[in-house]
Amino acid sequence: MTALLVYGAYGYTGELVAGELCSRGHDPVLAGRNGAKLGRVGTRLGCETRAFPVKDADGHLDGVDVVLNCAGPFVETAEPLADACLGAGVDYLDVTGEIPVFESLARRDDDASDAGATLLPGVGFDVVPTDCLAAHLVGRLPDATHLALGFEPHGGISPGTAATAVGQLGEGGAVRRDGRLLSVPPAHRQRRIDFGNGTRTAVTFPWGDVATAYRSTGIPNVEVYIPVPSGARRALKASKYLGPLFDADPVQDGLQSLVRRFVDGPDADERETGRAYVWGEVRNDATGETAVSRLVTPETYAFTVDAASTAAERTLDGDAPGGYQTPATAFGADFVTTLDGVTRTDDDDEDDDES
Ligand SMILES: NC(=O)c1ccc[n+]([C@@H]2O[C@H](COP(=O)([O-])OP(=O)(O)OC[C@H]3O[C@@H](n4cnc5c(N)ncnc54)[C@H](OP(=O)(O)O)[C@@H]3O)[C@@H](O)[C@H]2O)c1
Repeated sequence: MTALLVYGAYGYTGELVAGELCSRGHDPVLAGRNGAKLGRVGTRLGCETRAFPVKDADGHLDGVDVVLNCAGPFVETAEPLADACLGAGVDYLDVTGEIPVFESLARRDDDASDAGATLLPGVGFDVVPTDCLAAHLVGRLPDATHLALGFEPHGGISPGTAATAVGQLGEGGAVRRDGRLLSVPPAHRQRRIDFGNGTRTAVTFPWGDVATAYRSTGIPNVEVYIPVPSGARRALKASKYLGPLFDADPVQDGLQSLVRRFVDGPDADERETGRAYVWGEVRNDATGETAVSRLVTPETYAFTVDAASTAAERTLDGDAPGGYQTPATAFGADFVTTLDGVTRTDDDDEDDDES
């Protein structure tokens, strides 16, 4: 019986994930909307292929237990694929980092439970390390009221990540405050943070944990930070005035064509040698108590391939509960430490300054 279907299997990330699953002894069905591109990967990996657009997915899930969606922007692909999965009682996973996708899938929690299926978005670098770190931190300070997360990646980005980021340029920033998602200007807050590789100036960034960490930890206030050089910080802050411009079709078309021409994604050597530094802090506002933990992980795409493949395997094994899940609610805070090359440290010495 066919068990696992990888959608978007000829994209940069999807092809790496499909190759990894084959090297682990699986025989995934490879899927995507372009039959010619799919055929090339199917021949190389010796796998069955199914070419279909996401809107026709419900006719192509015969014999499938788990769908792993690697086709983004996920605002275009997640809902139709998840709908088809729920209709067929199939588990749905993806590697999105898009806040609207996490939120819309979370609203299908009851539907997924009724269908006896798992909805588990975000099984890549966004959000496995930060989500698991958040769950670990709330274990250290169960009455935390505030959660700050962040990461410093070393390595390039893939065409799909660049295209997805360009598509979100006009949306500004996002944080969670008192349990509610709040739109804020880009680079809304700034802090000095030691992600584990020296102290950097970092700014708030609309990373997926703003959606997911509340569900993994119950902490009502969540911010995510990335380090940004001063010139880029100024540009980010100025971009709040340019939001509508970034959303204009001609500007989007131009930026997307630049991405297609110039962005290739990290090569094998960069994936092998790159690292990412992940930091998290919980704080109880009333007592002033804090706890800080950090992770060092492999390069973000190498990590994504391992995390997504392992999450798919564990879902096939029946380890993921039904309904909407985050990586940490599905597999626990320690899931990240079971992945290759990940180390976690706890440190109560907090020396970061807010500004
Ligand atoms: N969570 C994480 O940490 C993480 C890590 C890696 C990547 N990602 C995300 O994963 C996505 C893919 O990244 P990538 O670098 O692999 O991109 P890529 O190389 O550009 O591949 C994108 C894939 O998605 C397909 N696709 C796009 N829109 C589609 C649609 N409407 N219907 C059907 N297929 C569609 C593309 O097919 P066509 O060629 O036919 O358009 C292609 O197969 C991005 O959104 C990226 O942000 C997330």
